[in-house]
Amino acid sequence: MRFAAGVMLALLLLAPTAPAQTQVAASPPMGWNSWNHFACKVTAADVRGAADSIATNGMKEAGYIYVNIDDCWQGTRDDQGRIRANKKFGDIKPLADYVHSKGLKIGIYSSPGPKTCAGFEGSYQHEEQDARTYAEWGIDYLKYDWCSASQVYSLDQMPEIYEKMHRALLAAGRPIVFSLCQYGWNRVWRWGAGVGGNLWRTTDDISDDYVRMAWIGFSQAGLASFAGPGHWNDPDMLEIGNGGMKHDEYITHMTLWCLLAAPLLTGNDLTNVKPEDLAILLNKEAIAVDQDPKGVQANRVAAEGPLEVWAKPLADGGIAVGLFNQGGTPNPVTVHLQDLGIRGAAQVRDLWQHKDLGEVRGEFTARVPVHGAVLIKVK
Ligand code: GLA
Repeated sequence: MRFAAGVMLALLLLAPTAPAQTQVAASPPMGWNSWNHFACKVTAADVRGAADSIATNGMKEAGYIYVNIDDCWQGTRDDQGRIRANKKFGDIKPLADYVHSKGLKIGIYSSPGPKTCAGFEGSYQHEEQDARTYAEWGIDYLKYDWCSASQVYSLDQMPEIYEKMHRALLAAGRPIVFSLCQYGWNRVWRWGAGVGGNLWRTTDDISDDYVRMAWIGFSQAGLASFAGPGHWNDPDMLEIGNGGMKHDEYITHMTLWCLLAAPLLTGNDLTNVKPEDLAILLNKEAIAVDQDPKGVQANRVAAEGPLEVWAKPLADGGIAVGLFNQGGTPNPVTVHLQDLGIRGAAQVRDLWQHKDLGEVRGEFTARVPVHGAVLIKVK
């Protein structure tokens, strides 16, 4: 079959997962981001501290690779229009070199608008130049946050504006994960991959609060078909370790995010993390669910009021299943194997207890604590 050049180009542009994209985010990106804990107080020392912690506390081995600076690093542009970091950061290049020296990757943040959400310099009318600067610094990840872009563009222009930066990143010649942040507006999951996004936020900001986290996480039902290797739905960063939720609530947070094949970007102070919070982040069996090479996002398979069951098919033929209790008392939650497409018997393993539970037939029931979760693998 032969296509005219124009048709070929259109097909290439529409392809949801161009090779370059899949290459940088074959599985959901994992790492740390400065925003949830440090917000605008973040300094270069905090970023180095996060890198040091990840390199030594087991997170690097568990797959947490990106050390991402969020908003508030920017200073002014020089006479040539080149963006510079502010005093809290000094030069970005030595910081990037430092992060790389730990075997990690570094991310940065900007906006297509004139200003970022916190009022710092955005990339408006400097897109190509900024992409080149990031590549020269050795940046590996860009979160591109709509913010003030509404002042200069209409919402209909969003796809082309994001694609503009995608092209600028490609032209800069360095593989850079491209993270779209526009709060899930305009059903971004339908076009995010087509404009070069490796991930796109599906909702407004998370906070360190069970109600907010649960609202975001459980509202992802129905988005599974839009995610896959190289292009992921992003229900926002992890709050585990920030202190606003109970242990069982953080277990729900991690369980749900892993089932959702969500990016796992911790948003806490890694230099000061409680062992029980670190243990949640380091659960390798949960992380394996998130990073599973099949790249399928979970969907809700059953709900009974506050009790929900979500299932994620895995590459080895198993199914990861989350049993959730959003209610105010402990409750039994039942998984019907037929809801998972399983007839007959199946082996069950508990991925938080790290324990084989043996063979079950027909259904499996677990008592789930208030606001808690049980994560099993059924095969
Ligand atoms: C927006 C984003 C957040 C964070 C802040 C920074 O609110 O959604 O994740 O990046 O901007 O100002």
